[in-house]
Amino acid sequence: MSLEGKNIIVTGAASGIGAETARQLKRLGAKVIGMDRNEVSENVDQFVAVDLSDPLSIGDAVAALPEGIDALCNIAGVPPTAGVVPVMKVNVLGLQALTGAVLDKMNNGGSIVNVTSLAGAGWPAATEQILKFQEAADFDNVESICDQLGVDDQRSYFFSKEVVIAWTMQNCWTWRDRGIRMNCVSPGAVETPIHADFLKSLGEKAEKNRRLMDRNATPKDIAPVIAFLCSDSSGWIRGTNIPCDGGMLSHVQCEMHGLI
Ligand code: NAI
Repeated sequence: MSLEGKNIIVTGAASGIGAETARQLKRLGAKVIGMDRNEVSENVDQFVAVDLSDPLSIGDAVAALPEGIDALCNIAGVPPTAGVVPVMKVNVLGLQALTGAVLDKMNNGGSIVNVTSLAGAGWPAATEQILKFQEAADFDNVESICDQLGVDDQRSYFFSKEVVIAWTMQNCWTWRDRGIRMNCVSPGAVETPIHADFLKSLGEKAEKNRRLMDRNATPKDIAPVIAFLCSDSSGWIRGTNIPCDGGMLSHVQCEMHGLI
């Protein structure tokens, strides 16, 4: 697989999955533009600072991007310990605002890849909450909307990933006339700097999952799937969510539906 000649944006490129994705994309020949609130000095051809919790910062950052973007990897995210407002702003509203603005600079045939999570797998049970959030929430009212919907700090991370998975599916054909597609990759536990935060906030559930798995993922397990979704080889994959979790989602679903 080659990404020669492609201009690819990676958010969250300063750390963890984003940093490894930037490294692998460059190795495959892409020109990588790293976007993060922290400076990115390695594995990128250009760095554009952005605070995804702030629409003004997103506007300034997009103005600094070149035209001719081939792929956007939305990887930046914050864990549940950040609290409901930062979680919903960065993981959902910022991701969506950046995507909307980058589309104007994206080439036809482009690809958008959202890093969601196994934590979002419960979206089918939350469709009412998701639709109400989508209808009403913006950067200014997100706290009160989450209050009304009963989304607290603990639920926020799960909900943020559910909303993005649903949004990705809802937009499977939105830019079909331009050949632009959007997909998600959902990791399970990945050893990165925010992993400790997940263990802290998910408690017993995370510990149960850890006992089931032979090991945690590392960013090297996730980045190749993101790279594949940026490539033309994955052109017929649209609007879907690809679990990359060592089998955990299959296990959970088999248990839930009595298959094992
Ligand atoms: P990380 O903490 O290593 O990297 C996150 C990056 O996002 C950092 O470089 C950070 O500076 C950036 N970021 C955070 N807030 C930002 C903001 N307001 N504006 C701009 N950049 C911001 O974490 P990791 O693990 O690499 O996470 C990447 C994605 O993977 C996240 O969306 C996370 O939810 C998801 N994920 C992680 C899992 C894990 O176990 N580590 C499991 C499943 C999904």
